[in-house]
Amino acid sequence: MRRRVIAGNWKMYKTQAETRAFFTAFLPLVAGAGHCDIVIAPPYPSLAAAAEAARGSAVGIAAQNVFWEKEGAFTGEVSAGMLAEAGCRYAIIGHSERRQFFGETDETVAKRSKAALAAGLTPIVCVGELLAEREGGKTEEVLGRQFRGGPGSLTAEEFSRILLAYEPVWAIGTGRVATPEIAAAAHRSLRQCAAEKFSAAAASALRILYGGSVKPDNIKGLMAQEELDGALVGGASLDAKSFAAIVNH
Ligand code: PGA
Repeated sequence: MRRRVIAGNWKMYKTQAETRAFFTAFLPLVAGAGHCDIVIAPPYPSLAAAAEAARGSAVGIAAQNVFWEKEGAFTGEVSAGMLAEAGCRYAIIGHSERRQFFGETDETVAKRSKAALAAGLTPIVCVGELLAEREGGKTEEVLGRQFRGGPGSLTAEEFSRILLAYEPVWAIGTGRVATPEIAAAAHRSLRQCAAEKFSAAAASALRILYGGSVKPDNIKGLMAQEELDGALVGGASLDAKSFAAIVNH
């Protein structure tokens, strides 16, 4: 049985004060949630406040990105060790917004993942196809390419410590959630990639989260699919009640 993960990606939302207020409201609502791992990814300046607020709770803190060098003349970048020290246990890597707006490639996804793992962080590696790619029948090809160039280039030991997130770009922030069947098919194809590259055991142990317009009213249907090992939630993770409803589905 793969333990499920419900992760919230706050993107560029929430100051430190807003972060503290969120945790004050959120933690009591999920105090009884022992059935899944809970993760929240605030923006960098709010990480320490989030880690402090989450201390002693079951909520793990994630960064939204990580650079691959330990230190140096890399203005604007943050290393995995710095994130771990700030209280992070996870790092989102290769989110489609990073790929689209900041030139993220499969190769940099692999480098960031290795650096995160070396610092003891769990990478949440995102992959997903564009609408045109899906409509052109290229979904499996795109996922295969992103898999091989990114997480597929890790060692087997490294790969055993990552989480994968399938986030179809056409579903992110659009309100257009993938049907549970579409998501499950994509997860199966990613799991097949993992079996081919690593082993059947590695593939069946791999946890794959679905992301893209997950809301309190569609989480049940998605989680009814055995292939879906959790969710990566954007907009609906910003409100304590709505994110708690998703955790407690
Ligand atoms: P959304 O974002 O839930 O707002 O669609 C998901 C994500 O980008 O991780």
